[in-house]
Parts: sequence; C-alpha cells; structure tokens
Amino acid sequence: MRRILIANWKMNLNHQTQTQLAEDFKKRLKKIKQLEIVVAPSFVHLQEVSEIFNGTNIKLAAQDVAFEKSGAFTGEVSAGEVREIGCQYAIIGHSERRIKLNETEKMVSGKINQCYGAGMIPILCVGETSEERMRNETESVIIKQLYDSIYKVSGLPEKEIIIAYEPVWAVGGSQFLDPDELAPIAFLVKKTLSAMYSEKFYNNNVRFIYGGSVNSIIAPAFWSAKFLDGLLIGAASLDIEEFYNIASEGETFSARGQ
Ligand code: 13P
Repeated sequence: MRRILIANWKMNLNHQTQTQLAEDFKKRLKKIKQLEIVVAPSFVHLQEVSEIFNGTNIKLAAQDVAFEKSGAFTGEVSAGEVREIGCQYAIIGHSERRIKLNETEKMVSGKINQCYGAGMIPILCVGETSEERMRNETESVIIKQLYDSIYKVSGLPEKEIIIAYEPVWAVGGSQFLDPDELAPIAFLVKKTLSAMYSEKFYNNNVRFIYGGSVNSIIAPAFWSAKFLDGLLIGAASLDIEEFYNIASEGETFSARGQ
C-alpha cells in the first residue's frame, strides 16, 4: 500500500482561508506522485473543497462521522452524507474528541462500523495521555483502544484500516516524540492486530501512521522509518510551504523505497 500524508485542518479556518488553502494545495502538490495525499476540512466546507480538488489526486477525509447510520441525532453528520460528497476516509477517535467531547470506545467502534457501511476507510487514532505515559501505561492503553474500538466491528478483517498513533502529549506543538520511540509502538500495533486477525491482514490491510507536532524539520526522521506508512499533520498542514516540504521529503524517501 502507498504511503499516505493526511492534513487535518481541524476547526482552524474560515470559508475564505479554507478555500484559499485548498487552492494552494491543488497548485503546490501537483508534483507529489508517490504519496497518497488526503485532506480533512471542516464539515461545512467539504463540498466546496471537494469541488476544488476535483480532477486532482488529492483525496478527502471527514474529521469525524456519527456512530449511527441516520435518525434523531441533532448536530451529527453521517458517514453516508460525507461519502456522498466524496470523502474516502474519516478520522475516528481523535484524542481531541475523546477528551474534550467525552467520546467513548463504544462510540468509536460504532463510527468505524459506519465508515465501513458507507464504503470509507477509517483512520483510527490511538495514543496515551502524558499521565498514562508517566505511569508506564502506554502499551496497555494502546492495546485497549485497539481491542475496544475494533473487536465488535463487522467487516474486518476484509476491510482496510489506518491506525494513527497520536500520543496526546505530543499533539499541538508543546512536546515532540523521539522518532526512535516509534518502532516499539509500531511493533505493538502489528502484534496486537495480527493476534486479533492475522499477520496477513496486518500486512495487506493496515497502515500504521504517526501524528503529533510533525513539521518539515522533523518529518525526515519519521519518513526514514521503514515501518511507518504515513503521517497525520495538524498545525503544519495549515501552511502550504510547510506541508509541501513534508510531502516532498516523504516523496524522496518513498522514491528510494524507504
Ligand atoms: P499537530 O500536528 O498540530 O500536533 O496535530 C496533530 C493532530 O492532531 C493530527 O490529527
């Protein structure tokens, strides 16, 4: 599977800045061929951004989907609705939602089911808080998040999934994960999912990616890790030159077969 680079614009932009950034992505990322580029705008701008990306290689993700298919869920947006607009991916279980909006594993699991029902690939975010890290609970937290959110999902192991390791303490620019710390986490995710399904499932259907304060300076250290299938970028994706530099580094490493 191709390496993937995902921009999560979160709730940072307005109509003007979002459409301008989409136009910039369209122009600047034309030369990126090896990487799969995915952008997650806010819901209200999905349609417009989708039209801007029409005819390009840039794909769309939703930043979230509802855990039910349809019905009386005021304010929610269904997987079917965003699929209709052209989203092929959805970010599920982001720590900002788990923590600030009390999203539970049961909801996360329902959202993954909805993604599969609508024909989308979930980008499942997992990762420990700084307190959990200090208590040496990183591994147990990740294993629990993986089990709880996936084991009741129908569709696996036939479907694809992206696992985004986003340590909560490293999101938002205050602290950085040492890229050397990524290998044991990648191994843990592979071991856990291989035990739940099979190693063949992991090798063929799972991409393991990283997110948390990645910028163009530290990106090469991540891209050089052979086991890493991509990056999920927040703040640095709001600056087209930063994002382009991250993408072109990824392109260079991927062209080298790394
Ligand atoms: P930052 O790159 O701003 O730390 O955000 C990472 C993230 O949360 C992507 O989903």
